Amino acid sequence: MTNVAILGFGVVGGGVARLITENMKEVTRLGGDGINIKYILDLRDFPNSPFADRVVHDFDIIASDPEIDTVIEVMGGSHPAYEYTVKALRAGKNVITSNKEVVANFGDEFMAIAEEMGVCYRFEASVGGGIPVLSPIINCVGQNKITEVRGILNGTTNYILTKMFSFGDGFEESLRDAQERGYAERNPDADILGTDACRKIAILGALVTGKLVPTENIHTEGITGIRKQDVEASARVGLKIKLLGRCIIGESGVFIMVAPFMLPDSTPLSTVSGVYNAVEVVGEPIGNVMFYGQGAGAGATASAVVGDLMQIMRSGRNCAQPIMVKSLDGVCDFDDFKAQQYIALGGVGAEQVREVFGNVQIISEGEEIAFITQAMREGDVKKKLGALGAELKSRIRLI
Ligand code: HSE
Repeated sequence: MTNVAILGFGVVGGGVARLITENMKEVTRLGGDGINIKYILDLRDFPNSPFADRVVHDFDIIASDPEIDTVIEVMGGSHPAYEYTVKALRAGKNVITSNKEVVANFGDEFMAIAEEMGVCYRFEASVGGGIPVLSPIINCVGQNKITEVRGILNGTTNYILTKMFSFGDGFEESLRDAQERGYAERNPDADILGTDACRKIAILGALVTGKLVPTENIHTEGITGIRKQDVEASARVGLKIKLLGRCIIGESGVFIMVAPFMLPDSTPLSTVSGVYNAVEVVGEPIGNVMFYGQGAGAGATASAVVGDLMQIMRSGRNCAQPIMVKSLDGVCDFDDFKAQQYIALGGVGAEQVREVFGNVQIISEGEEIAFITQAMREGDVKKKLGALGAELKSRIRLI
């Protein structure tokens, strides 16, 4: 029997306990052993839960119990998740997490400790919820020359954008709807400002480059500035707006970012709608591979967490641990990123725009002018906008 402890009995913790219990036959067959949830750590008691007798409030009970093989950290946030993870690894226990914040901030340190202690640190559920994506990237595509990993990494913002495109609703209205449906948090900042997607692209980027770029060094924009007019303009030229995390590996180095992008209606990522997530990997010789599915929710996230547990049980702790170091080495300045840009300006006409931006495609002209530029460096676009001195209404890059 493999004894595990679950840290945090919220939505994901409850989903993990339920999956292990209800699918005991499947997990026993796949893992080669039964699983016993020996402890559940939470600040609260759950007197009416079938797991009420496993609830403890002191992490040291778990860390000091030699019977505990694996600790499942699904509490979220950086602290005390960081301290508990270090303590569990140092106590010789495998650790599994769904907590992207702690992986993005401290994943390099955890993996080094895991390596040293001969245990596993796994985090499949931290990106893309139930979508198996990290493990395939580590185990199945690493032999390719990866040129980009990009994705729709946040379900809430994808739901909001889908609503704006499908029903012509505004941002505020669509956010309220996402909150009413329970997708967006009461405080939705981490989703709509791009923070959640930033943590996830940091993790994906680390797997393909070996460098965990600190999140504060990742250019991050959310979707709060996207207006009905931008949605209409992009639809007019056959483009959709998606919040993307992108890690591009080129000759000159690595560009890593989160921002809304306009992409052609025909591309696979543009067809991903609602709360769904998708991750696309581009490499040589494999070409384009896309992973798609539910990026959040108790069942989907629990599936990824328990999948990690199955792999640990089957591998007998011989985990193929990815190596990553926190580094900015080879990471390019965002000002050097080159892309076509959609720009909407007030107070200028086509003639002035052409004088400064050269050959542009005008989408609409009236109270404001909306146009698409040729591919240009970020730094140059900023300079040109400064020179024009017009009122900037919106600016979205194309892919
Ligand atoms: N708030 C996140 C989302 C949950 O909307 O995708 C999963 O990280």
